[in-house]
Amino acid sequence: MEILTTPEEMRAWRRAHPVSLGLTPTMGYLHEGHLSLVRRSLAENEASAASIFVNPTQFGPNEDLDRYPRDEEGDLRQLRELGVNAVYLPAVEAVYPEGYQTYVTVEGVSQGLEGGSRPVHFRGVATVVTKLLNAVQPDRAYFGRKDGQQLRVIRRLVRDLDLPVEIVAGDTVREADGLAMSSRNAYLTPEQRAAAVVLSRALRRAESQFADGVRNAESLRSGVRAMVGAEPLAELDYVSVADSETLAEIEGEVAGVAMVSLAVRFGAVRLIDNVTLGEDA
Ligand code: PAJ
Repeated sequence: MEILTTPEEMRAWRRAHPVSLGLTPTMGYLHEGHLSLVRRSLAENEASAASIFVNPTQFGPNEDLDRYPRDEEGDLRQLRELGVNAVYLPAVEAVYPEGYQTYVTVEGVSQGLEGGSRPVHFRGVATVVTKLLNAVQPDRAYFGRKDGQQLRVIRRLVRDLDLPVEIVAGDTVREADGLAMSSRNAYLTPEQRAAAVVLSRALRRAESQFADGVRNAESLRSGVRAMVGAEPLAELDYVSVADSETLAEIEGEVAGVAMVSLAVRFGAVRLIDNVTLGEDA
């Protein structure tokens, strides 16, 4: 497994390996959610790369950039064991050198939900994903449905800028009790960890209401709100029932495919999750 630390090195590796290539971008501290994407990339391409880069531009000033969990050695060991061919592991200065001033902004689909609570987040995501794709030049790039809005922002970015890559979405990998795997779960106290099951339970409630024929978006939202409200350690940031593609909030009836998503705080830890109603995204 080769480790490349600058865009130039990464592109030179790519030129020397002119085969079908899959890329799984990550911020490290790898868990089964990440690894499921890497495995799929390994199965679908002749070669696979992963990137590990905690991207400062997608964190707001009061967010967890400084304490974001890291385990470079453990991450590299897991990627090596899976058979990944190359890891792009740039330093911050290699991605954002002195004088950096260019950003990619995806408009509509970045704006509500996470974009409402984290105003600079998707500008940072779209910028770094564009740069990672330019450095690695994969045929396919793998993203998780766990970050539902991010997936839609990236699909829009790739279509709008004619980026020559296929975006592949992987299903959300969950702990045994339903909690979506996330690097941020490591911050939870044991009490908060037990309470965090409320995100997936509330989403399951929306799914079963939908299966029972409930189509009114506000009824679905209030079902989720009530369930999160009943958990004393949880503080709901938002709940959304939105058009699955545009992420415009649905008022009235759910007609096509909808994404139900929520963000919940447990003290300083903020977790997100989502499900799709109707059919898969
Ligand atoms: P990170 O949070 O490390 O996630 C990397 C990828 O793993 C993302 O595509 C994310 O959706 C996926 N993922 C995370 N948890 C998952 C789970 N439980 N099941 C399935 N997939 C899961 O998302 C980012 O990093 C960054 O924003 C990035 C795209 C790398 C840009 O900096």
